[in-house]
Amino acid sequence: MTDIVTGANPGTVSQQAWLGRYTEVMMNAFGTPSRVFVRGEGTQIWDADGRQYTDFLSGLAVTALGQAHPAVLAAVTAQLSTLGHVSNFFATPAQVSLAERLASFATVNAPGTPAKVFFTNSGTEANECAFKATRLTGRTRIVAMGGSFHGRTMGALAVTSNPKYREPFVPLPGEVVFVAYGDADALAAAVDDTTAAVIVEPIQGENGIVDPGDEFLRAARRITAAHGALLWIDEVQTGMGRCGDWLASATSGVTADLVTFAKGLGNGFPIGACVATGAAADLFQPGSHGSTYAGNPVAAAAALAVIGVIERDGLLAGATERGERLAAGIAALDAPGVVTVRGRGLLRGIVLRDEIAPAVVARLLEAGWIANAPRPSVVRVAPPLIVSEAEIDRFVAAFAVALDAASAAGQEPA
Ligand SMILES: Cc1ncc(COP(=O)(O)O)c(C=O)c1O
Repeated sequence: MTDIVTGANPGTVSQQAWLGRYTEVMMNAFGTPSRVFVRGEGTQIWDADGRQYTDFLSGLAVTALGQAHPAVLAAVTAQLSTLGHVSNFFATPAQVSLAERLASFATVNAPGTPAKVFFTNSGTEANECAFKATRLTGRTRIVAMGGSFHGRTMGALAVTSNPKYREPFVPLPGEVVFVAYGDADALAAAVDDTTAAVIVEPIQGENGIVDPGDEFLRAARRITAAHGALLWIDEVQTGMGRCGDWLASATSGVTADLVTFAKGLGNGFPIGACVATGAAADLFQPGSHGSTYAGNPVAAAAALAVIGVIERDGLLAGATERGERLAAGIAALDAPGVVTVRGRGLLRGIVLRDEIAPAVVARLLEAGWIANAPRPSVVRVAPPLIVSEAEIDRFVAAFAVALDAASAAGQEPA
């Protein structure tokens, strides 16, 4: 790959040199990255020093089809060479076609329910959009979940529970109250006729892949309906096939008033969406919201290609099967350091007995495997949906080695 402006090949500059330049010029919001990646193909990624890795994180649950998928490349190239961008004074076929698909996903449990879409460029913006829609109900009170993560804009942060993220930025838009995730009684007690919306993730990814079960979503639906409040389900991390369905919440039988998507939607092309169903679909009127890039046709074409390949290659069922293989493989290790494997489909959290998940992830990286640790005792595994059974089996073996090494290091005297 050659830099189009300078003609330089970034692969000829060492990783250390790139990291030096990174720290000089990039805001220190992410800390110093551990690797500089220059190329990818399918589940494989290469760093600037030529080392190869297998991606079991998918750029944080994004690249469902892996790197450089031919269908995404073809769709993006065709759209970009036909029509790359128009303002939202105008419509494009890609945007309309994608909205139709997302509307049908959001109403899978109530086909025929009207549903309308607002496109965004990210997950936080999708939630920001939903937040604004809730204000148009005439109510302002929101009930959110302990352990939640919904993004970093001020609105999305207001419904995110982690004090580390919130506190430097108070005051945030209110009024938001938090209840224990999975506690239907606490939720019932917190929601009243002044509540605009309840926001909930079907599985909390950033909190360590915590799944409260479908009954909690059903309770949330009953409670919100009883008080005329909106149910706002954040499928940014869990949706688009990651958990084995287009929506992880689909298995609950629930239809939300607001559903937000991003991450896996564009396979890395920045796109998100807020889908509103039923009466909520008409909350926005001209002037309520806007965004220059919303529904960009190239991003929409990428997303249509993702949906097409997931359907063509049976990747929803594949995510369930591969996820079960992974969980069974980890369980079969019978490792004393592993408590359990949480999650669904290919969004999995390997829960460790000790708080050594960052050390395990570091050992995995050294061995050529990308994963992460959303909590000190949880290793998150979210490979591309195209991952093979053989790769899953190799990961399980690599995980066992990394866990042993990290456990042994943890027992050494300081
Ligand atoms: C459930 C959930 N909602 C929202 C977001 C924010 O998405 P983005 O980083 O695209 O703004 C994330 C990101 O991790 C997420 O996991």
